[in-house]
Amino acid sequence: MAAKFYLPDGTTTDLIGITLPAFFARTPEEFLDFAEAQRTDPATGKPDLDKLKAFIMTHPNGGRVLLMLEHQPAPVSFAQTSYRPLHTYYFLNAAGAGRWARYHWEPETGVAGQSLEELAKQPHDYLFTELEGRLRKGPVAFRLELELAREGDPVDDPSAIWPEGRERVVVGRLEVVRPITEEEIGDPVMMHDPTAVTDGIEVSPGDQIIAARRGAYVVSVAERTGGWQKRGTVGTARANETPEPALSTK
Ligand code: HEM
Repeated sequence: MAAKFYLPDGTTTDLIGITLPAFFARTPEEFLDFAEAQRTDPATGKPDLDKLKAFIMTHPNGGRVLLMLEHQPAPVSFAQTSYRPLHTYYFLNAAGAGRWARYHWEPETGVAGQSLEELAKQPHDYLFTELEGRLRKGPVAFRLELELAREGDPVDDPSAIWPEGRERVVVGRLEVVRPITEEEIGDPVMMHDPTAVTDGIEVSPGDQIIAARRGAYVVSVAERTGGWQKRGTVGTARANETPEPALSTK
């Protein structure tokens, strides 16, 4: 779930969440190792299980996430799914005191899942039509929660799962009221940037994944729009920087 906030000062800030409990890579290099490990074997048309096993054995955090994913139920509805932006951000108050925390979007209707077999019986666009049907009956709401880090919790590693039971505080509520098109918003490119934070919120300087993401997304936008965008149309917070690819393939 990628959410864009249009702020009163004309800038934007984004929250980009996925349904995994953590990311499967701590660094861009680990991301590429995974991409390589799950590449389809041309001989069988399937991923090479030995390569995947080797990735899991040599990347304990990523391996744990992938094994959890195997047992994670499929969604029944976009409105009954938790979304996690995964990175840890530093939140400063007006007095300059700060806390590290991770965001979570929690559905007010509660989380529900189904087996992959059940989901496979549904039409391919089922999750979208289900959400549209639900919105015709009323809004869909999410609580925005911050999970507060304790001493020793890794704040620079989105592949690290923190221990259970960390204190959570509710910092916001999102109500989705109707479907809207990107054209209606006036931004057909619609790029989301996890580093476009606002005053009082900072990214973790040691987090190598968040450092690589903006560059990768800028390249992706260029690819999917058929060329580098005109200055000022990609993102907002740092729209005029020259895009630098952050990753290169081996
Ligand atoms: C080095 C690590 C990563 C790489 C290389 C990467 C790459 C990409 C690319 C190329 C896109 C398409 C961007 C666009 O065309 O607008 C994308 C979208 C997305 N990524 Fe990542 N990603 C990374 C890490 C993550 C992480 C850690 C998360 C979890 C929070 C995440 C969640 C998403 C989501 C939700 C989208 C869709 C955003 C949208 O609809 O605008 N990615 N990613």
